[in-house]
Amino acid sequence: MSANSSSTTAALALIAADMLEMDAIVSRRLNSEVALVSQVSQYIVAAGGKRLRPALLLLMCGALGYTGGQRHNLAAVVEFIHTATLLHDDVVDESALRRGRATANDAFGNPASVLVGDFLYSRAFQMMVDAGDMRIMKTLAEATNVIAEGEVLQLMNMHDANLSEEGYLLVIRSKTAKLFEASARIAALLAQSPDSVEQSCADYGQALGTAFQVIDDVLDYDGDVLEMGKNLGDDLREGKATLPLIIAMQRGTETERSTIRDAIETGGTAHMQQIIEIVQKTGALTATRDAAAVEAQRALTALEFLPQNSYSDALRSLASQLLERRS
Ligand code: IPE
Ligand code: IPE
Ligand code: MG
Ligand code: MG
Repeated sequence: MSANSSSTTAALALIAADMLEMDAIVSRRLNSEVALVSQVSQYIVAAGGKRLRPALLLLMCGALGYTGGQRHNLAAVVEFIHTATLLHDDVVDESALRRGRATANDAFGNPASVLVGDFLYSRAFQMMVDAGDMRIMKTLAEATNVIAEGEVLQLMNMHDANLSEEGYLLVIRSKTAKLFEASARIAALLAQSPDSVEQSCADYGQALGTAFQVIDDVLDYDGDVLEMGKNLGDDLREGKATLPLIIAMQRGTETERSTIRDAIETGGTAHMQQIIEIVQKTGALTATRDAAAVEAQRALTALEFLPQNSYSDALRSLASQLLERRS
């Protein structure tokens, strides 16, 4: 284990008990009289997942000194919202593997996945009302709305080989970074922190979430299916222009550019091997990792405005370790 990942393990040990409490709430709140709801939701929740968004919320609460009971409930809320987006996303992306097992859509069908995703969203709304804080509800209402917009925007960009870096960034800030941002902001709201601290928390979450998705887009070309627990090459199969392809098109020869352009426009995996060679040869994967590093650095800078303690140290190691992640 590298020093880096062992320091992250130590970081997460700080909130081990909190994570257990969050997980207990997650299990308890999956309950439903309707058998298929429990079946599908338990299926995806029990498969694991990194629980990164609740960890972020709980670490940030620690950094700001908030120890109230609502933190576990709200950590469960962000995990429910995340899980709902995964159920919907795998239908939209026609994905077959998630968290090392068949996706819920594969195992139970698209209708069950979409509807149970709706159940998880609405259960999250019920739970957030328990917190009784209008600013937290506003944060989560906005986040879920922006996530939905991000997913639709991405749908509109499908098969568009002219997508710019800015266009790509707008999608990932919306579909992924927004929930990280909300998770970190909620900690500040719970802690009744001043506006400037709330903003630094939000900045940290947004930068971390952006770096996280950029690395995810590298791993779609450069990862390991067993470590990732999801199939590689899904982005190209869908004709999705992510940063590795956008950069490879900027750097490649005319022929390489047109190979990538064709692949994005037609989708499918027929040219997968060729595309992998191009993204490697042009240095596009390294450049994409560098772009993630810039975001991670932005996250670290935001942390400078927060109290310095073992929890903010943990948030610091989370931001640097994320760049090395394989899963
Ligand atoms: C998957 O998120 C969706 C993306 C934003 C890339 P995670 O990688 O956090 O998924 P789990 O919860 O650990 O399975
Ligand atoms: C994940 O997006 C879904 C959301 C962030 C809403 P992706 O489609 O890029 O991620 P994976 O690869 O399926 O996890
Ligand atoms: Mg997907
Ligand atoms: Mg998707």
